[in-house]
Amino acid sequence: MSKKKIQAIRGMNDILPAQTPIWQHIEHTLHQVLESYGYQEIRMPILEATELFSRSIGEVTDIVEKEMFSFVDRNSDKLTLRPEGTASCVRAGIQNGLFYNQIQRLWYIGPMFRHERPQKGRYRQFNQLGVEAYGLTGADIDAEIILMTARFWQKLGLDNLELQINSLGSSEARAAYRDKLVDYFSTHNDQLDEDSKRRLNTNPLRILDSKNPEMQSLIQSAPQLLDHLDQESQTHFNDLKNILDQVGVKYRINPQLVRGLDYYNRTVFEWVTQELGAQGTICAGGRYDTLVEQIGGRSTPAIGFAMGLERLVLLLESKLQLSDINPHIYMIMVGNETVQQQGFALAESLRTALPELRLITNCGGGSFKVQFKRADKSAAKFALILGEDELNKQQVAIKNLRKKQEQKLLSISELADNLKQLIKE
Ligand code: HAM
Repeated sequence: MSKKKIQAIRGMNDILPAQTPIWQHIEHTLHQVLESYGYQEIRMPILEATELFSRSIGEVTDIVEKEMFSFVDRNSDKLTLRPEGTASCVRAGIQNGLFYNQIQRLWYIGPMFRHERPQKGRYRQFNQLGVEAYGLTGADIDAEIILMTARFWQKLGLDNLELQINSLGSSEARAAYRDKLVDYFSTHNDQLDEDSKRRLNTNPLRILDSKNPEMQSLIQSAPQLLDHLDQESQTHFNDLKNILDQVGVKYRINPQLVRGLDYYNRTVFEWVTQELGAQGTICAGGRYDTLVEQIGGRSTPAIGFAMGLERLVLLLESKLQLSDINPHIYMIMVGNETVQQQGFALAESLRTALPELRLITNCGGGSFKVQFKRADKSAAKFALILGEDELNKQQVAIKNLRKKQEQKLLSISELADNLKQLIKE
């Protein structure tokens, strides 16, 4: 009786060998840029106390209200698979004393979990690269972070992303603005959709973020937070814009940009593409100067962002020509035990002599015919053929698997030198 196949959980994908080269290319490029700006990697657990996220992201956000993978463990502890990295990073920083009179420039990479409705570019397990900088209050660090993201796109060859920026001001300015917004939307209550009616009492700023086309004209005419900023936030925002202008990074001020997590203040920003439909935000973040204190640490200014790596992969898939990563050589070994033993020794010595070499040795035995088939399937350029005759003469045969060429014999003592030339071509 055939057993029922076990499937991956909906919205959680395998990344298969055919796709990993592009992931590795992206990660490698991002690492290089991060290093060049002096950022250091931090690794946090995937599982945290549920309270960490409800206290930081906000009780009445989509993430906390309906998207967290939460469960009670065997000790009756309430745990959650992290929906994002900022809260964990703050927790780790406080717990390990990273914020005590220190400036920190940190990054992390890894899976995040949100129980959203899966579609192209939106998954239940997805990967983020996140960056967080702590201990700096000025707009200079905001600019540094945004300039670094611009450099990511430049290095990856992406030139179609739009930078949107906004300022959410101080929490006092936001509270005053919130009242104005509630007044405005209350007088237009009949035009609000169900979601917005609910948000009117809980989180009215999020109404501005609504994607409902029927709400757009109402939202466009709503009072704007940018017109109600406190003086310091206004100056901060101007300082940021001046640096971006000076460096020549283009941006659009989007007064409706409020972000879906509660911890932000002052600068918020997103990089958006038109190429991925509704899931067009590639990278998003902002300042969160009160979060460290809110989680129990000493007051520490902070700013950061995270980018969705699946979305980057979708954007780059059709654009990138990755350099060849097929094996150079498939080593065929047919004969008695000595052939295999000597074959393995030879393969090891080649790997030592030529660190760039990509070589697969045949495993699982088989006739010449079978091994040639495997060699062909491996996409290797050359087959090295080792049999008893060759071995007795201290030689190996080499055959080009991709071009019609005569098979040649090479002496084992000169093999590494010969291959050095071949793998360069
Ligand atoms: P976020 O806007 O929730 O921010 O997520 C950042 C990015 O993660 C999004 O712009 C998107 O590219 C990607 N992303 C989010 N959800 C999904 C999903 N379900 N499937 C695929 N990709 C997704 C944060 O997470 C903040 N922690 C960013 C931050 C860091 N702010 C300050 N520091």
